[in-house]
Amino acid sequence: MSSVSHQEKSPLVARTIDDVRQQVKLWKQAGERVAFVPTMGNLHAGHLSLIEAARKTADRVVVSIFVNPMQFGENEDFDDYPRTFDADMHELSKGKVDMVFVPTVVEMYPGEASSATVVDVPKLSGILEGEHRPGFFIGVATVVNKLFNIVQPDVAVFGEKDFQQLLVIIQMVSDLVMPIEIQSVATMREPDGLAMSSRNGYLDEDNRILAANIHRCLQHVVKAIVAGENPNYEVGHATQLLDDLGFLVDYIVVRRQRDLAVPKSGDKSLIVLAAARLGSVRLIDNIPFELED
Ligand code: PAF
Repeated sequence: MSSVSHQEKSPLVARTIDDVRQQVKLWKQAGERVAFVPTMGNLHAGHLSLIEAARKTADRVVVSIFVNPMQFGENEDFDDYPRTFDADMHELSKGKVDMVFVPTVVEMYPGEASSATVVDVPKLSGILEGEHRPGFFIGVATVVNKLFNIVQPDVAVFGEKDFQQLLVIIQMVSDLVMPIEIQSVATMREPDGLAMSSRNGYLDEDNRILAANIHRCLQHVVKAIVAGENPNYEVGHATQLLDDLGFLVDYIVVRRQRDLAVPKSGDKSLIVLAAARLGSVRLIDNIPFELED
């Protein structure tokens, strides 16, 4: 493989689509099951938990590191998004990953910084994150579709932190009859409850301490709803609390887990989701929960 290198226990580093395809073909010919974890790099313990799950279900693990321009809005942080390749490779060299795919933008989008053909999952993509980040899920679904076509994994692993993204991918795979199993992994949290995210690194010291209040508020909402309190009141109260602390709340909502629709009476598997800004940093979080009969 021309541009693939393999040092000691470090994973193979593939920079081209051809290199990935050739390697995966060899593994498949040997009857090996391939798991895939797509990332935008700046790896943290949350990503490592996805890789751990991938390792448990397959013989080979492929991770991609690609900051996808197509999923960033014009005023978003594409240019500033942390690119930490050396530190990421250090994390990945702990022996659990077989290949890292690190394409350039031109490799993924020859000619343009986006794709002429796009993948849209309109019903799920138009609400919540999709309302606040127009085009975001088209960018995600399109790049994940392309990555799936390149890696052709048997299984792909996503975090529940980006719950709406997870549902978009599950829907896409089902609708497009892609022979890929999607596995999800629970959100990893810092000791104070803040959901791990590459964007947490943007928070200054004061806001980093404040940020954990999102999780605390969501925990309170879940506890109160499970105890029979009025969801609308609890959501309103949580929104006010975050507001008073200096957050700009985009939404706090209680939805059905399976499709993020407004729950109907009798729906038991619910999720509370939130998005809020602290200064220039936008944070999202959620807690899935069950109501008893
Ligand atoms: O969750 C992410 O890091 C990205 O949205 C993904 C799935 C790697 C697509 O670019």
